[in-house]
Amino acid sequence: MDCITSPDLLRQQCRAWRKQGLTIALVPTMGFLHAGHMSLLDHARLRADKLVVSVFVNPTQFGPAEDLDRYPRDLEHDLALAEAHGAALVFAPDPAAMYHPDHGTWIEVPELGQRLCGASRPIHFRGVCTVVAKLLNLVRPDVAVFGEKDWQQLAILRRMVRDLNMDVELVGRPIFREADGLAMSSRNVYLTPEERAKAPAIHEGLELVRREVRGGVIDAEALTLIFREHLADKLPGARIDYASFVHPESLAPVTRVAAPTLMAVAVFVGNVRLIDNMLLEV
Ligand code: PAF
Repeated sequence: MDCITSPDLLRQQCRAWRKQGLTIALVPTMGFLHAGHMSLLDHARLRADKLVVSVFVNPTQFGPAEDLDRYPRDLEHDLALAEAHGAALVFAPDPAAMYHPDHGTWIEVPELGQRLCGASRPIHFRGVCTVVAKLLNLVRPDVAVFGEKDWQQLAILRRMVRDLNMDVELVGRPIFREADGLAMSSRNVYLTPEERAKAPAIHEGLELVRREVRGGVIDAEALTLIFREHLADKLPGARIDYASFVHPESLAPVTRVAAPTLMAVAVFVGNVRLIDNMLLEV
């Protein structure tokens, strides 16, 4: 397996594969890979001849007060895992190789990008769309695989691909959870042992809501209250950034769970902002 840091070399290698008639799958990541990422790699590996994994902590998707500098990094470990899971190539560029000093072109999906996480992270999805578009342009994969923990990200990227006629299939894969239900995230390492022990309450709250919906409670306000009370009880001190019921594609708020609805939440546990979601079927 090769590790490439130059965008030009990445483009050349992918072009050579395509000339040989080989298909390519891309899994974009910010590194510090965990079992959730591995499930993406394993799926992607089955979908194409060559698997490319990008490891890039993209500075343009972090706000000024966010955790860019302390975001966990471990390239050696990432390379070993990527190789063990069948990657043909890891692309791990420096920010300077990805962004010219006068970089000035951005991709925005304003309506979807301002909802949910976008309300408290105003430039986040602009950075995500721009870097993913750059990676898609460099690799030109047949398929790109993303985790559904970042459901909003995937919905926005699908809209970008549709609106810009990009020639790639985007695939979402289910959330990968720890044994106690906490959604896997590179940011879980920020949690103190006490916070980590209580954090599964977020997923339990989502499960509780799912049971209530199955039992006939479909009013979004009532369901939000059930989730809030559960967290107040099991995760005291946590601050809910949002707990929202939305249409799974448009992300527009819904007042009743009368059709498949996404419940999406972002919760500050101490200083750590965790997101999770659940698709509620009726
Ligand atoms: O989901 C992530 O890790 C990032 O947002 C992504 C898609 C790799 C873009 O930097």
